[in-house]
Amino acid sequence: MSHTDDHEGTRRDFLYYATAGAGAVATGAAVWPLVHQMNPSADVRAASVLRVDVSGIEPGSQLRVLFLGKPVFIRRRTEDEIAQARSVELSELPDPMSRNANEPGTDAADENRSLDEAGEWLVMTGVCTHLGCIPLDNAGDFGGWFCPCHGSHYDLSGRIRRGPAPENLPVPAAEFVDETTILLG
Ligand code: FES
Repeated sequence: MSHTDDHEGTRRDFLYYATAGAGAVATGAAVWPLVHQMNPSADVRAASVLRVDVSGIEPGSQLRVLFLGKPVFIRRRTEDEIAQARSVELSELPDPMSRNANEPGTDAADENRSLDEAGEWLVMTGVCTHLGCIPLDNAGDFGGWFCPCHGSHYDLSGRIRRGPAPENLPVPAAEFVDETTILLG
């Protein structure tokens, strides 16, 4: 299978899930052409970073972009969602590690997974850590994401809480470069 075929398969999957996922925001589709142009190829190193305008994301919703061939969820959490995520005891978490590329080796406290100190922004690679399906947002028993493939429930911090997935959803390298722009990679 050629690289192009691989890519098209990923694109179809992404669009399918983006359409099927509850709460997908309309701007997700609008972002696609930019992301498409910036997908990686062996000889284009600039593709290893992506700037995402997050100014249109309302609290309580998320934007999905495709980065390095994988969906990335960028969620803007409400005050209530932040409070829920931060009230969870570490002892309740099957995976005790943050899985955050920006804070390697830290524990899975929500403070170690959110992008900003206040916890409003959560950025995660949207690939189930069981066998790689794309979890649905605003779903599952813990108010976060649910992977329908084999029933993994992730909480409002993207931490695995129930089901076969062994690890929390990973947080990729990301940072705010200005008030409304997140740089991935
Ligand atoms: S791939 Fe998500 S639960 Fe199996």
